[in-house]
Amino acid sequence: MRLSGKSALITGAASGIGAACAALFKSEGARVAGVDLHAEGLAAIADSLDYSQSLDVTDKAAVDAAAASIETQFGHIDILVNSAGMTTRDVPAEMSWEDGWQLVMDVNVKGTLLISAAVMEIQRKGARGGSIINLSSIYGQVARTSLLIGQPDPYTHSKGAIQQMTRDLAVSGAPDNIRVNALCPGFIETPLTSVLREDPAMNANLVALHPLGRLGKADEVARCALFLASDDASFVTGTSLPVDGGYLAV
Ligand SMILES: NC(=O)c1ccc[n+]([C@@H]2O[C@H](COP(=O)([O-])OP(=O)(O)OC[C@H]3O[C@@H](n4cnc5c(N)ncnc54)[C@H](O)[C@@H]3O)[C@@H](O)[C@H]2O)c1
Repeated sequence: MRLSGKSALITGAASGIGAACAALFKSEGARVAGVDLHAEGLAAIADSLDYSQSLDVTDKAAVDAAAASIETQFGHIDILVNSAGMTTRDVPAEMSWEDGWQLVMDVNVKGTLLISAAVMEIQRKGARGGSIINLSSIYGQVARTSLLIGQPDPYTHSKGAIQQMTRDLAVSGAPDNIRVNALCPGFIETPLTSVLREDPAMNANLVALHPLGRLGKADEVARCALFLASDDASFVTGTSLPVDGGYLAV
């Protein structure tokens, strides 16, 4: 078991990649805390977690309190997976593009930073350090050409910011043996992409963008998160790893 004796906090744990990380990390021996804005979704998997709490990652006071409560329960937080996130498609239609841009940046960038800062403070105590895994995207590295939406796309802006934040936090955490890395998935079969995959023509277009000829599974991203979380990646920090079926290779 690759995470035996470790404790992990996973945001966005109620769905998709976060839920896959929670299940895989449990099966590898970690104690797992899951947090998510979606209380009902989290309640449905609460029995499989060691700690669960409804949490908005943009609420600093609530984030700090949740991190402290998990530290009290587990004694340490060795691993953080920042999987809470939203897309430009999730912005309410009635919002101005400026407000929608801010909302996506708040959830994806500020939320990742707030919880990372709270967990790094805990990981700096003592010598254990830790590993933080941020969810960026292929769209943190390239512009979106297939799904042009005709207005500024905060999703891609947020995912680029996460990669730079990853480098910044990796350098500041390194003296305390805190490793910080990002994953850059291609299109993965989760609720986040379901509206696109339900349209057969769109689905075929998306598949064609991935040289492996298919979309990815949440578990395939979780297994890369497991590598970065584990001691197998003990000399890996500040990097952004594509998990994209070759999307970025062409
Ligand atoms: N699915 C993909 O194709 C794909 C590709 C690249 C990157 N990603 C990234 O991976 C991460 C996970 O994506 P997913 O596909 O599992 O999505 P998902 O929609 O299945 O899960 C995201 C979870 O985040 C939660 N969440 C949203 N806002 C929150 C907030 N303010 N506070 C706490 N929780 C909040 C949601 O309730 C949901 O449970 C996201 O950051 C996403 O951008 C996904």
